[in-house]
Amino acid sequence: MSKKVLITGGNKGIGLAVSRAMLEFGYEIVIVARDFDTCPLVGVEKVTCIEYDLSDVDGLKELANTVGNIDILINNAGYMQPKYTYNNYPKEAREHIMNVDLYTPVELMNIFSEHMKKQKYGRIVNTASIAGQIGHPDVWYGMAKAALINATKIYGKLLGSYGITVNCVAPSPTETDMQKDNSEERKAEFKKTVATGRFATPEEVAKAIVWLATDCPEYINGICIDINNCSYPR
Ligand SMILES: NC(=O)c1ccc[n+]([C@@H]2O[C@H](COP(=O)([O-])OP(=O)(O)OC[C@H]3O[C@@H](n4cnc5c(N)ncnc54)[C@H](OP(=O)(O)O)[C@@H]3O)[C@@H](O)[C@H]2O)c1
Repeated sequence: MSKKVLITGGNKGIGLAVSRAMLEFGYEIVIVARDFDTCPLVGVEKVTCIEYDLSDVDGLKELANTVGNIDILINNAGYMQPKYTYNNYPKEAREHIMNVDLYTPVELMNIFSEHMKKQKYGRIVNTASIAGQIGHPDVWYGMAKAALINATKIYGKLLGSYGITVNCVAPSPTETDMQKDNSEERKAEFKKTVATGRFATPEEVAKAIVWLATDCPEYINGICIDINNCSYPR
């Protein structure tokens, strides 16, 4: 029986590239997101699409009942809100981004790791960001991603003895819809710091995520793969 993987935000951008690659490898995939209108994987064999707003943290247990047990969790859904400044960031906007970018991924690890623990196998990959490493102008986005990197380490320690690995990736700007919200000036500025002068492609980021979710040895646990082409070497 093929392994089952849940990919949040697997309908677009980086998540879609991950979904495509996991399908190619023969996995059964479940995609959770809000909008499937443009998703090319709707109706494809081995793909289940579930419409759900991941800002609803309280509803996640019910969502998990619909999804069923999984072997691999890819916490990919996320967004940023560059229109807000540190001193003009409405409370609702702050709460919303913390729900989607931090509380939900952590809660999904709590929920889905239960079965993984019983079967003594699981792979969890979180999509963090360079924003969580460098101090980002969207302060709540940066703080959520920094916390997700730390959660990856904590959960790697908590779950490692059950045959579960928890790792994350920290991409720098990547060519997806998310960049539509970024100013042209900031994008041009950032490209100057990248060795090849361009943003990453979703496929480049997906390759790292898919490897962490599949072939990656058990001993690689609690790490963050930087995908930034020397824009933040460390
Ligand atoms: N692109 C970049 O420059 C970049 C860099 C570093 C890290 N990242 C991270 O990479 C991940 C994927 O982003 P992307 O670049 O692929 O951007 P994207 O194309 O805008 O995709 C974002 C995904 O998250 C889902 N999502 C957002 N809010 C949601 C909500 N409330 N409920 C359910 N799903 C939600 C979206 O689905 P729906 O809109 O259909 O709900 C979509 O699938 C994010 O975590 C992002 O922070 C991106």
